[in-house]
Amino acid sequence: MKSLLVLFSFHHKNTEKIANVFAKVLDAQIKTPRQIIPEEIQEFSLVGFGSGIYDAKHHRTLLELADKIPQVTDRKAFIFSTSAVMGKDKVSEDHSILREKLQTKGYMIVDEFACKGYNTNSFLRYLGGMNKGRPNAEDLKHAEEFAQNLIQNLQN
Ligand SMILES: Cc1cc2nc3c(=O)[nH]c(=O)nc-3n(C[C@H](O)[C@H](O)[C@H](O)COP(=O)(O)O)c2cc1C
Repeated sequence: MKSLLVLFSFHHKNTEKIANVFAKVLDAQIKTPRQIIPEEIQEFSLVGFGSGIYDAKHHRTLLELADKIPQVTDRKAFIFSTSAVMGKDKVSEDHSILREKLQTKGYMIVDEFACKGYNTNSFLRYLGGMNKGRPNAEDLKHAEEFAQNLIQNLQN
């Protein structure tokens, strides 16, 4: 299974920590959206798209890439993120713009992963931030299990 991770992580590199775990388990390379040649994405049978959540959505460069990639056939994708605030409905909503764009391009979204990330955006920087230390060791373990499950489910 040829896998690729498309990642944009800038605030505290929180999402990069998660992507590094996925990359190891999936034996995947990590690229930023700007490093991707849209036409080449069809080469990968599994692509993980992830970033921090900024203003209730994935990073703009990831959403722009999703607009640029060509229609794919028989290709699978998963979505991941880190964010300040979590909740089942919130994550689902935060992921919805990227999810819909990828589905429009023909991707089957096989799973989604989210965890908390350290946040010092806006006034929080004066208060020491929130979710200090996240993703933590337990989050990274969940990421590892998530990627292992992906492999198992896609092989069956
Ligand atoms: C400009 C900006 C906007 C953000 N907007 C949100 C948001 O709408 N919802 C949320 O839960 N977290 C929000 N956050 C927190 C980030 O999602 C969180 O810190 C994330 O882990 C950053 O990922 P990164 O370090 O990989 O860039 C925001 C952070 C920044 C810097």
